Amino acid sequence: MVDHFSELYGAYSDGLRAAKRLAMRCNSKGLSGDIEMELTYLRIRHQKPELVWEISPNWGYSTIFLLSALKDNKAGQLISFDTWDGPGQNDCVQQLTQGRHQMVVGDIKDTYASQVDLQGVPDYLFLDSYHSHGFGTWYIQTLFPLFQGKHVFVGLHDVYNPGFWSDDNFERDLTIYPEWMPNEEGMVILDWLVYNDHACHVFTAAKSRWPDTYKHLVTMRNSVMGDDVERDYVLPYDANPTLFFELNCQSMLTD
Ligand SMILES: C[S@@+](CC[C@H](N)C(=O)[O-])C[C@H]1O[C@@H](n2cnc3c(N)ncnc32)[C@H](O)[C@@H]1O
Repeated sequence: MVDHFSELYGAYSDGLRAAKRLAMRCNSKGLSGDIEMELTYLRIRHQKPELVWEISPNWGYSTIFLLSALKDNKAGQLISFDTWDGPGQNDCVQQLTQGRHQMVVGDIKDTYASQVDLQGVPDYLFLDSYHSHGFGTWYIQTLFPLFQGKHVFVGLHDVYNPGFWSDDNFERDLTIYPEWMPNEEGMVILDWLVYNDHACHVFTAAKSRWPDTYKHLVTMRNSVMGDDVERDYVLPYDANPTLFFELNCQSMLTD
């Protein structure tokens, strides 16, 4: 995967730099690490999804990376789901929308179905919402079955965040769940993935899970981008806890 991302950094570094400058300038109170957002941008540039779902944007930090990638692709739509409209108050998101962005306000459990009816299911899913056992189970039982037969790229944030267990109970007992282990929601999803024949390319850049891979990735990334990874607002800047995977990979054979 590092070799794969090395190619993507080489191909899309100019657009990525511009997206990062915008995200910094707008100070969108992001809760994500630099590397994981860069990989998200690169995956979207490479896969060129037609429809991206963002669950959830908060103030719109992740929205800037998702919309920047779609703008640079000159194709694709983004639907963001949250209980409130943070992106609507974010000048950078407004600057990027160009008719590509729709904000759906409300509990995702109540709002997703009408969007499926209107526009179908996404081919890229960015998940960073209420992190809990219950939400993980909802993704598996309600959301993922809708994607049957469609190759969907997924990024689930906060899985390998050593300082966070669940939105139901923040405290993480590191003596029971050491920092290399997934959080509560991540455990639910990972267990399901292990027994899913149609999922593929499970990957994380999380430093707590694969420190050597992380180091290798950052060295490669710095050599292309010509700068150092800059900052993270809340997590240790190098946590990058996103779990990346793909669903219904078999459909690639018939695409
Ligand atoms: C960790 S923040 C998202 C951070 C954002 N992706 C970023 O890059 O800064 C989680 C968001 O999930 C939203 N959320 C929590 N429960 C939700 C629900 N049931 N439906 C929709 N959004 C929800 C919260 O309002 C919050 O804005």
